[in-house]
Amino acid sequence: MPLADFLADLEALSAEARKAFESAADAPAVEAARVEFLGAKSGRLKAAQKGLGKVEKPEKPAAGKRFNEVKREIEAAFEAAADRVSRSVGGGPASSTFDRTIPGIRPRIGHLHPLTQTMQDLKEILGRLGFTVADGPEIEDERHNFEALNIPADHPARDPLENFYLATVGKRVGGPLLLRSQTSTVQIRVMEQTPPPVRIISLGRVYRPDTADATHYPMFHQIEGLLVDRHVTMADLKSVLRLFASSYFGGDVHIRFRPSFFPFTEPSVEVDMSWNDGWIEMGGAGMVDPHVLEAVGYDPEEVTGFAFGLGVERVCARRHEVTDIREFYKNDVRFLEQF
Ligand code: FA5
Repeated sequence: MPLADFLADLEALSAEARKAFESAADAPAVEAARVEFLGAKSGRLKAAQKGLGKVEKPEKPAAGKRFNEVKREIEAAFEAAADRVSRSVGGGPASSTFDRTIPGIRPRIGHLHPLTQTMQDLKEILGRLGFTVADGPEIEDERHNFEALNIPADHPARDPLENFYLATVGKRVGGPLLLRSQTSTVQIRVMEQTPPPVRIISLGRVYRPDTADATHYPMFHQIEGLLVDRHVTMADLKSVLRLFASSYFGGDVHIRFRPSFFPFTEPSVEVDMSWNDGWIEMGGAGMVDPHVLEAVGYDPEEVTGFAFGLGVERVCARRHEVTDIREFYKNDVRFLEQF
């Protein structure tokens, strides 16, 4: 294509485009002109760029230079038009009726789920007491979910009806896998890897085939705490739980230990908390059983430890006076936006 023809086409395009942008009266018209002239796929400027390829080689630099200038002209015309129509929002001519001081429409911003907020609060509170966060897998083997926690093969907690075993049962070398039924698995994983002293918490999902009701859900969250060091006692356990409870619920909270049994703690307790009125079971706790310490290579003559495991849904529900934990999983915005 001769250079003169290419330039003439370009000038015509530039004039037409500028006219279209100048006469566009509102945002849709500006957008239509933008698509027509500057559209990335089939805009007319794009088509003109293809013509550039057909210009004789020696004349290409001159053609390219003018093409770039025209492109900038058209873009400037678009920006000016876009600016003009945005300033005259409200339909009035120019900007005389537009009051910049009127407050805008606030966009609706989402926020974290109440259970996530609770877990962040718990990490923060226990972080202040020196606990660091440890993580463990949700799919576990029987060693970490049971054996190392002193739960023998014939224990009812291992019943397939009480757990979500994976379909690898009987097929997998190293035994079956299951969705962990408690975060106590992380105690073992941490102690296997770290010599004492340890001071960790672990938060996450656990799974049990429980029927959903106001205080149970088949998938729920636990916070596990573990502290192993020299001379650790039940008094330390109670102090930590009381400090945790008063920081999370506010001053007027009481803690009660009831004797209980867990195969991996001795002695074991149920931890109840009372705030405003009425006691509610929050979790289990106790002194780490010497067998558990031995199984991970710790010397129970040297160190002692405490562990606790609390239900996050219960803690969160108590604090916010939610009477049914199933609400947390309905994803009803009218419920969630209250937090
Ligand atoms: C345990 O899971 C022990 N691992 C706790 C523990 C840790 C004891 C460390 C000793 C040392 P338990 O099965 O009681 O214990 O569950 C602990 C808490 O999880 C319960 O008190 C309750 O708050 C919560 N919980 C249990 N089942 C459900 C469920 N289906 N839905 C919601 N929360 C639940």
